[in-house]
Amino acid sequence: MANPSLLILAGDGIGPEVMGQVTRIIDWFGDKRGLAFDVSEDLVGGAAYDAHGTPLHDETMARALAADAVLLGAVGGPKYDALDFSVKPERGLLRLRKEMDLFSNLRPAQCFDALADFSSLKRDVVAGLDIMIVRELTSGVYFGEPRGIFEEGNERVGINTQRYTESEIERVARSAFELARRRGNKVCSMEKANVMESGILWREVVQKIHDTEYPDVELSHMYADNGAMQLVRAPKQFDVILTDNLFGDILSDCAAMLTGSLGMLPSASLGAPDANGRPKALYEPVHGSAPDIAGQGKANPIACILSFAMALRYSFDQGDEATRLESAVEAVLASGLRTADLMGEDGGAAVSTSQMGDAILAALDASL
Ligand code: IPM
Ligand code: MG
Repeated sequence: MANPSLLILAGDGIGPEVMGQVTRIIDWFGDKRGLAFDVSEDLVGGAAYDAHGTPLHDETMARALAADAVLLGAVGGPKYDALDFSVKPERGLLRLRKEMDLFSNLRPAQCFDALADFSSLKRDVVAGLDIMIVRELTSGVYFGEPRGIFEEGNERVGINTQRYTESEIERVARSAFELARRRGNKVCSMEKANVMESGILWREVVQKIHDTEYPDVELSHMYADNGAMQLVRAPKQFDVILTDNLFGDILSDCAAMLTGSLGMLPSASLGAPDANGRPKALYEPVHGSAPDIAGQGKANPIACILSFAMALRYSFDQGDEATRLESAVEAVLASGLRTADLMGEDGGAAVSTSQMGDAILAALDASL
């Protein structure tokens, strides 16, 4: 049988640096665990724009659709700020999400014990934190029509549309309930049903899917603003948070910071399973391209590495190997090794991106 295929789109800023460490880890699993992948690389974001004048070439899109999983680094940077909206780096990422129909975005926020003191919240509020945000990723205000900047009388008006169909809500709700059953069995759904019709529909549909298909899972509803407040007040009350595209974008950054650094958080974006039970999938760190530190070897590769762990778990049915990799990361953090994002002001003894990769590889070796 052919090896499963991985398409790597390292992208911009720190993307290539952190992905460089992931490539080493992929090779390790091939050499030491007999998990060989056919790895190929291509461009996305500003890098693709520089080469082709578009943030995602049609050929790259086709390769992403054909791959068993896509690993993405990060897109964007100040160099591209002045570009027309239609060719901005972010459009490449949004096109991948949309055309691969990756409607369910899993963003786990786990606080490693060794990092509990790096959170801006008190240790006892975040220690042991383990929540999963399920963000709808292919609809809502990110894609709704009409959208644009229009002339209206003697001024301009900017318009975006929050739009959700019942079936879009149903499928992402199912994925949240399925995940909850394998975790703490609790889902909290967040919207703004107090001011938005789309929120009213969201709440109704989530409740209906719960009552008819997942009555065993504990379901609650919360307004998203209260959800943001609860996330910083008492985050451990949550297990799975289910929310829409825009609220999920915001709430997941907030949840990420609870864990000490944005450099720690992986994500999986999943579509519907194919005939072999494998979903279309894209894995990427939650952090962005961090242009301010790009090219300096300072970036934390852990979020990207943990994204590959999610790929092992959700695309390749290798949950034990995913746990092996996550435990290696945890062991390295427990040993005190830190990249600059996890240091205090002076950043004194921080290790570089590749030294962090070295340490994780050594911890993997030690796990054999
Ligand atoms: C994210 C990012 C993206 C988003 C940007 C880069 C388009 O913030 O994945 O959270 O808004 O979805
Ligand atoms: Mg975001």
